[in-house]
Amino acid sequence: MALSKQDDTANVVLPGEEPKDGLPCLTPPVQSKTSTGRTLNEKEMEKLTGDQTLVSDFKQMKLEKEAQKNWDLFYKRNTTNFFKDRHWTTREFEELKVCLEFEAQKLVLLEAGCGVGNCIFPLLEEDLNIFVYACDFSPRAVEFVKQHSLYCAERCSAFQCDLTKDDLRGNVPVGCVDVATLIFVLSAIHPDKMQQALDNIYRVLKPGGIILFRDYGLYDHAMMRFKAGNKLGENFYVRQDGTRSYFFSKELLADLFRGAGFEMLTNDYVLRETVNKKEGLCVPRVFLQSKFRKPDQLQGS
Ligand SMILES: C[S@@+](CC[C@H](N)C(=O)[O-])C[C@H]1O[C@@H](n2cnc3c(N)ncnc32)[C@H](O)[C@@H]1O
Repeated sequence: MALSKQDDTANVVLPGEEPKDGLPCLTPPVQSKTSTGRTLNEKEMEKLTGDQTLVSDFKQMKLEKEAQKNWDLFYKRNTTNFFKDRHWTTREFEELKVCLEFEAQKLVLLEAGCGVGNCIFPLLEEDLNIFVYACDFSPRAVEFVKQHSLYCAERCSAFQCDLTKDDLRGNVPVGCVDVATLIFVLSAIHPDKMQQALDNIYRVLKPGGIILFRDYGLYDHAMMRFKAGNKLGENFYVRQDGTRSYFFSKELLADLFRGAGFEMLTNDYVLRETVNKKEGLCVPRVFLQSKFRKPDQLQGS
């Protein structure tokens, strides 16, 4: 079956717009200190507060054990057809354009959780003056990256890696990376292990190096669509295929990055209304787009 490609970026930006269905806005069922990208209507709030049953511990452990297998099967089923090429990265993140302006400046990029390369190949196609280290959990995804017509050893190095376990320094020289990208990857990692993934990236970043982050935000349409029986924990769900997704608040993300030693540069919700062709509806998308920086010098040094 041909899958329609996911586009999480197109469409109209509607910051702070009222819900379209006329239902009243209510305070979301989260701690008062947590900000949200959008306000839930009554129906949505009922759905979230009603869905409190968590997947059993046994099944949760199995999902964690089989996380790599489930992503690899995802790419077996979908090959390179699922995600759309992400052509918006240079528009949204000016750090990736620096090397266009200064030809002598070669940017070293780490694409952590690269999938089949939907972020890196548009960059290489623009002929940016970059070298890309690209890694993913799924061996099959890495193989797709290596088979791409734009892949060549002079400009990229792709390797398989579990960001939460395998030391990136085995494949990437210490402190050589100018910019790391984490695009819809941290959400796929168990919340207890997110910090390990960030610590791992921190080690290969240059002092002053930056992480560009984009991922699912709290109350994104994808979160509201999960049916009962798929909840793993607070803002954490499992899809039918066993892959998992976390939905971030700004505050949680900032704490995670600060815990790994990063300084926050920007951290904002991005709201979009996209037309969901299957459902024939306009649906509210919430993403979190952020930049964090490894300090130039360690404090006290
Ligand atoms: C939603 S996809 C995004 C892929 C790509 N960044 C993009 O924007 O198209 C999430 C990716 O994270 C990878 N991933 C999940 N857990 C990982 C881990 N622990 N270490 C490395 N990659 C992981 C998956 O294999 C998958 O390719």
